[in-house]
Amino acid sequence: MTDERRILVLDEGTTSTRAILYSARGEVLGCAQEELTQYYPAPGLVEHDAAEIWERTLRCARAMVAQAGGAGRIAGIGVTNQRETVVAWDRSTGKPLTRAIVWQDRRTEERCRELRDAGHEAAIQQATGLLLDPYFSASKMEWILRNVPEARALGSRLAFGTVESWLVWNLTGGLHVSDVTNASRTSLFPLEGASWDEGLCDLFGVPLSALPEVVPSAGAFGTTRADLLGGAIPVTGLAGDQQAATIGQGCFRAGEAKATLGTGAFILANMGTRPPRSAHRLLGTVLCEVDGVRTFALEGSVFAAGSVVKWLRDSIGLLGTSAESEALARSVPDSGGVVVVPALSGLGAPYWKPDARASIHGLSFATTRAHLVRAALEAMAHVFHDLGHAFAADGAGWQVLRLDGGMSANDWLAQDIADVLGIRCERPVDVETTARGAAILAAIGAGLCPSLDHARTIVAPSAAFEPGMAAQERHGRLVRWREAIGG
Ligand code: G3P
Repeated sequence: MTDERRILVLDEGTTSTRAILYSARGEVLGCAQEELTQYYPAPGLVEHDAAEIWERTLRCARAMVAQAGGAGRIAGIGVTNQRETVVAWDRSTGKPLTRAIVWQDRRTEERCRELRDAGHEAAIQQATGLLLDPYFSASKMEWILRNVPEARALGSRLAFGTVESWLVWNLTGGLHVSDVTNASRTSLFPLEGASWDEGLCDLFGVPLSALPEVVPSAGAFGTTRADLLGGAIPVTGLAGDQQAATIGQGCFRAGEAKATLGTGAFILANMGTRPPRSAHRLLGTVLCEVDGVRTFALEGSVFAAGSVVKWLRDSIGLLGTSAESEALARSVPDSGGVVVVPALSGLGAPYWKPDARASIHGLSFATTRAHLVRAALEAMAHVFHDLGHAFAADGAGWQVLRLDGGMSANDWLAQDIADVLGIRCERPVDVETTARGAAILAAIGAGLCPSLDHARTIVAPSAAFEPGMAAQERHGRLVRWREAIGG
């Protein structure tokens, strides 16, 4: 007998929002997608319209509910999202108070430096696994409280949330929750804690009353407002997109690692049930919490990946389409000595230089468009190489790296990463592992899938890229990279 029950995933990323419909066996049955407006009001500032995020996500969700044959056919909704981005809203009206401050936004750079200089970083890292950087949510919340008078004046009516929290609030008509993986990206949530850390909330001036209740990654969290999707559907899975991708890649055992090449690139290694404390500028983060077991990951966050190709295409005009980058990279034997440092929104792991800006090195009259594009793609493998050293030094070296995300569809890039890392890279047939991970969590929460381990059977098989670059070429590239990045 076939199981007609469906799982609906809402995958809200940095540049687009999607709804994906899955069968109980993990087959993709349909997808609706809408782009999101990116606001760059000044250098270093990146904002989203939270109302637009909700409206477009809802429209995508409605299309997939219709395709499923109605709300009654959907056993559970999984929500996964761009992490760290902060939404502030008024509980009584449900209206956002200001634009959402996106994870890439660097406006709190100075404040983070001030806190670092005052010696707070060690304690924050010990408690939360995170470093002091504008990337994380807490300093963005503090900025809103200091700069948006309406937010300050609201008192207990003020609500803060990361994007899953905002979506669940809207879906359910007022449930204010955040899942443990998203909470672990705020700098306010201890890796091993049950709830927010009062001391850290005080440090950033964030009132506890504004924060959501922290819940696990799978469970019966609430149901959607009946009028939104034509019936009440349980919300049963929640996770930040990088944690969801790690699950969607089947990295269920300690030591298994994945790299998602989306807007940014994020490498996460499953570290089992002991919270990791990096000594090499990586992040400790919650991977998921299912059936009362919290699992942790070590993370290397790279702020610019697909966004670099998008920038070359949309702002610089070097590319007609993103896919063209692969053919251009292949059209030249090397980058002609050009090295790109892709610090378009500062540098994340393992460098952590929020004020770094992108640069291009080694230009000559012989440089062509193809060299520039190739150099921009090569930068990915260079950053991954440095991250590989940091992971190994933290005792979490990669045997194999599983690639996913839209940019990983570029075969040349996948091969280049394998070559420069000197290890086998694998890529699943379905590179949309973020949505797949959220579907797994939602299926567990809805009782369709008994455990994470059981989900192993619905993880898609992979293509493999074996390293093959000559040692001398690899060495030359890394020497030039080191000169360009300075150190
Ligand atoms: O931490 C930011 C990350 O969650 C953004 O993911 O997929 O939009 O690059 P993505």
